[in-house]
Amino acid sequence: MPFRSILVTGGAGFIGSNFVRMVAREHPKTVITVLDALTYAGNLENIADLVDSGSVRFIKGDIREPAAVRVAMDNAEVVFNFAAETHVDRSIEEAASFIETDIQGTYNLLNFARELKVKRYVQISTDEVYGSSAGKDFDETSPLRPGNPYSASKCGGDLMCLAFANTYRLPLVITRSSNNFGPYQHVEKFIPLFITNAMEGKDLPLYGDGLHERDWIFVEDNCRAILAVAEKGNDGEVYNIAVGKSQPNLRVAELILKHVGKTNSRIVFIEDRKGHDRAYRLAAEKVRVLGWAPRTEFAPAMEETVRWYVDNRGWWERVKSGAFREYYEKQYKDKLAKGKTK
Ligand SMILES: NC(=O)c1ccc[n+]([C@@H]2O[C@H](COP(=O)([O-])OP(=O)(O)OC[C@H]3O[C@@H](n4cnc5c(N)ncnc54)[C@H](O)[C@@H]3O)[C@@H](O)[C@H]2O)c1
Repeated sequence: MPFRSILVTGGAGFIGSNFVRMVAREHPKTVITVLDALTYAGNLENIADLVDSGSVRFIKGDIREPAAVRVAMDNAEVVFNFAAETHVDRSIEEAASFIETDIQGTYNLLNFARELKVKRYVQISTDEVYGSSAGKDFDETSPLRPGNPYSASKCGGDLMCLAFANTYRLPLVITRSSNNFGPYQHVEKFIPLFITNAMEGKDLPLYGDGLHERDWIFVEDNCRAILAVAEKGNDGEVYNIAVGKSQPNLRVAELILKHVGKTNSRIVFIEDRKGHDRAYRLAAEKVRVLGWAPRTEFAPAMEETVRWYVDNRGWWERVKSGAFREYYEKQYKDKLAKGKTK
């Protein structure tokens, strides 16, 4: 990788931690700083081994606070913004924190990226900004039609990025990927919830008729695409990232039950989510021109993911019970008290 030093915000969350692990493994010379507020979704355990070994400098801080952003961005050549409030269901209950983090937080990052003249700023966004697809694929020029407060907040962040690219010529790129799955995903999200419920012998609560479709991408494939866009993407441009094989949620649930060794009778249909987008479909040729292609097929990646949750029961049991906070706070008490772990 041509980057000497990177700042990864939200690097203790699901995709961010997978990204950090991949860069540390494959590009050991790159200096990595993680800025993460450790909200309910952030878990220092996800990158604890890298922090302990000194491969990652961790700063506990909030992108809503300019001072924290300024400190973390010092010496960063490239900024990857994964930090966000991300759970649609939570945004339907309460959207203020989504607006603050996903829009105001992004604005703070952009401001300092401009002031400190970073070489590249990478905004991690989502296919949800296009809204529900009525049978056609959205490309990067499709209109933004967010269907819930989460995706509206992500639109706000994306539009601020495009404004900075146009107004100040900030060298930035935006990635919009489809739904990710894989290790270290918070257990309140669809796939980990279903895997862990199945393992615990609980019901799998499926929204509506279960026929909502998502084009699932294995998290490592998305991380590789993000790197490709960061390295080779054109300034001011958006890159969709998707595999192009949508699956109904019901099929995903059945596959999970098969891998966990349980029967489909565990699936319980519940009242649909408010404003539930039926499907997202992306045209993602542009990122393939950069040389990226997914390496993983859905079914084996799902098997690998289920195996990870089976092998890491302690991890998700701590997340489910809330005990993970106590766990890492005990381990990192002194360091966190200073606002840093290194
Ligand atoms: N998960 C998906 O399927 C998916 C799909 C497309 C795009 N995305 C985008 O990818 C990014 C990462 O998603 P994820 O699923 O890993 O999310 P996540 O919820 O697992 O992690 C988010 C991380 O950001 C941190 N964070 C939240 N607010 C913060 C703040 N104010 N300051 C600093 N840190 C803060 C959290 O502590 C957490 O570590 C998000 O921008 C999301 O919109 C996710």
